[in-house]
Amino acid sequence: MSLLSEYSGPALSISGLKKVYDNGHVALKGINLEVSQGDFFALLGPNGAGKSTTLGIVSGLVNKTEGKVSLFGKDIDGDIYGAKRLLGVVPQEFNFNQFEKVQDIVVTQAGYYGIPVKKARVLSEKYLKALGLWEKRGVPSRMLSGGMKRRLMIARALVHEPKLLILDEPTAGVDIELRQSMWVYLQALNEELGTTIILTTHYLEEAESLCNNIAIINEGDIVKNTSMRELLQELHKQTLLVELTRDYPERPCMESLELVWQDDHCFEVAVEKGTAINDLFEVFNKAGISVSGIGPKSNRLETLFVDMVRK
Ligand SMILES: Nc1ncnc2c1ncn2[C@@H]1O[C@H](COP(=O)(O)OP(=O)(O)O)[C@@H](O)[C@H]1O
Ligand SMILES: [Mg+2]
Repeated sequence: MSLLSEYSGPALSISGLKKVYDNGHVALKGINLEVSQGDFFALLGPNGAGKSTTLGIVSGLVNKTEGKVSLFGKDIDGDIYGAKRLLGVVPQEFNFNQFEKVQDIVVTQAGYYGIPVKKARVLSEKYLKALGLWEKRGVPSRMLSGGMKRRLMIARALVHEPKLLILDEPTAGVDIELRQSMWVYLQALNEELGTTIILTTHYLEEAESLCNNIAIINEGDIVKNTSMRELLQELHKQTLLVELTRDYPERPCMESLELVWQDDHCFEVAVEKGTAINDLFEVFNKAGISVSGIGPKSNRLETLFVDMVRK
């Protein structure tokens, strides 16, 4: 893989990506995103946020309206043959031939990458076994359960041993037990082989168990792009709006808390969830700040997650 040995930049880089569908619907409003090589990355968002559109554009299944996308430093509008070879895609919808047999589907896919049949059969065995489908190799794919079909899509995406694996809602229709084993498998792939993995999900817990870095997409915009650890810390905090009895033009600071002043009369402060408001009054009073009221500030992420759960 000479392409990779020379290249140490991001696996995926997206800038100003916009998508307007033919019916005028604006699915992506100009997003920027970067995924490092070796990362396990989640694109999290509610249904209709633009996750599949994003991955569809990256994998060449959907045309973009504006913006730039590069895979391993190669612009997808240019000569990307080499980069495409490094990419494996598991789309959200099953898109294999329902009448073709399981192993044939995987071997046929290898053929698209110019892998000779003999080697393709060896690789298909490796990945069908890894995904618990070897016993089903001679069965027409329509006979598989939903979870098995999903795993067949993964085996097919891995047969040419890509450096970047993209999965769109990989656990949709997969029962809990299989979901766990799929997670373990994907984690090993990421940790042991260093395969970069990007998945979309509308479950925070899924992203939380698997991913190092995360972008949250809502209504075609990236509303957050951070590490999973930082996101979780943020979710454990609550932002309060603190009103004061008089103006404080000198805008005092505190050692223990970071005050974000909105004007001379009011600041925001992030505290651990469950902190008693009465205690806070006292803390501010001791610091010489006279408080008239403390109330919750509506948290954009919180509202978004509540919406996600409702949908
Ligand atoms: N082919 C299409 N034509 C028109 N609108 C579409 C098409 N595909 C998706 N959309 C719309 O674009 C938005 C984003 O869709 P999608 O990327 O599938 O979201 P997600 O994968 O996050 O659920 C949604 O409002 C969806 O209805
Ligand atoms: Mg989708």
